[in-house]
Amino acid sequence: MDLGIEGRVALVTGAGRGIGREICLTLAAEGVRIAVNDLFQDRADEAAAEMRDEGHEAIGVAADVTDFESIRGAVEVVTKEFGAVDILVNNAGIPAATAGQDALPSMGTLFAASDREQWDRTMELISYGVLNCSRAVIEGMSERRWGRIVSIISDAGRVGEPRLVPYSMAKAGVIGFSKALAKEVGRFCVTVNCVSPATTVTDATREWIEAEGEQIMRAYPLGRGLQRLGQPSDIANAAAFLASERAEWITGQVLSVNGGYSMVG
Ligand SMILES: NC(=O)c1ccc[n+]([C@@H]2O[C@H](COP(=O)([O-])OP(=O)(O)OC[C@H]3O[C@@H](n4cnc5c(N)ncnc54)[C@H](O)[C@@H]3O)[C@@H](O)[C@H]2O)c1
Repeated sequence: MDLGIEGRVALVTGAGRGIGREICLTLAAEGVRIAVNDLFQDRADEAAAEMRDEGHEAIGVAADVTDFESIRGAVEVVTKEFGAVDILVNNAGIPAATAGQDALPSMGTLFAASDREQWDRTMELISYGVLNCSRAVIEGMSERRWGRIVSIISDAGRVGEPRLVPYSMAKAGVIGFSKALAKEVGRFCVTVNCVSPATTVTDATREWIEAEGEQIMRAYPLGRGLQRLGQPSDIANAAAFLASERAEWITGQVLSVNGGYSMVG
């Protein structure tokens, strides 16, 4: 299937590694010009260089999604380099402390042991990150009467996950955001959707998955059959479809890509 997005411009947040990076590679293979955002310039640059080496058009843009001015600046850079942003993928969603230490301070903690500092960190990144980035592109998309916003949420936001209470809350909020915005901007042919992974093997989760061992597979109906957990490519394929011309009649929806972990009607 031709996704019909060759020549479009995509900004993918938190894309220096993991799922975001794979989304960039998948969109690039469709002929999309890619702005790889990350908090860390070296990660963004390295991922963009990999795409250019494969013959694609890509730039790295460091910006902090929690900071509206930082993101507005990034959107300006992308617009000068490639033209206006057609596709925004809100992927940044796991807090990073430093490039060398991607701590998950509000994750893996019982709610009873959590505090305001941890909640703020989670809300800043997930809730304000999505608000900032979407706000920075929505007027342009509406004026041009074409746009795609795809947010990577989590099944934690659909069915809840112990030890991920504030994270579950923030991700659930992105669903409400997406549905409401989808209703506002449908008239401008802008679609707003979510992709909802469950456990996906990335640098952020590898250690935890290894510690859990085989028992984690039991939660995934397809896990036993395919003998694997979710891979970044599973999420990237879904995100690319929702970002495509072929998905123009789909908006305000949540697509779980999770090996059957949760089945929400
Ligand atoms: N990996 C999983 O099991 C899993 C499951 C469900 C949902 N998700 C969601 O998928 C998305 C990607 O997860 P991942 O596992 O690839 O994460 P990851 O930690 O491997 O990559 C995320 C990237 O985001 C960057 N980042 C962090 N804070 C940022 C900020 N303020 N501004 C810009 N960039 C920032 C990091 O530097 C990092 O390179 C997240 O939204 C996460 O919640 C992941």
